[in-house]
Amino acid sequence: MISGRGSNMQALVEQAEGYEVVLVACNAPQAPGLAWARAKAIPVWALDSRGTDRSAWESALDQALRDHRVGTIALAGFMRILSAQFTHDWSGRIVNIHPSLLPRYRGLDTHQRAIEAGDSCGGCSVHLVTEDLDSGEVIARSEVPMETGETACSLEAKVLAAEHRLYPLVLARFVAR
Ligand code: GRF
Repeated sequence: MISGRGSNMQALVEQAEGYEVVLVACNAPQAPGLAWARAKAIPVWALDSRGTDRSAWESALDQALRDHRVGTIALAGFMRILSAQFTHDWSGRIVNIHPSLLPRYRGLDTHQRAIEAGDSCGGCSVHLVTEDLDSGEVIARSEVPMETGETACSLEAKVLAAEHRLYPLVLARFVAR
């Protein structure tokens, strides 16, 4: 599930081994990642979440996931908070990639916060999704060492590359568990 650029989704598609991407779902119909998925002939589902009642939006999503026989949901830059009901219904079957070494820096601006804290490493984490934001069990992490003069922008680029390596490997392991 994506909301925007979709580079992690592309990595999951391009490195799919041990799992199959059966649907790309999105809450923003203009998201660039959707166009990429369509061009690759991957089934897509998109419904604008702005101005749509949350439970109606999630029911429609739930139906689409079931129609496509989705076993595991991989959030990949999906920027909407899922309800307690939805995360409960899909409990243990939703994973997310987050651009920090959880449990440090839940939420936004993770790279800037890591730099300001004087951390020696940034990184990314794959974790289970529960109703509490970025707080589910951490499944895997990848560290990215900070260099002298590191900026949020330079760190983001290196962490994103690490995300693209980590997520497909961890998802394959997760679905085989
Ligand atoms: C990534 O940094 C991911 O960790 C975070 O949102 C960003 C999404 O980027 N959850 P993309 O849409 O996958 O390119």
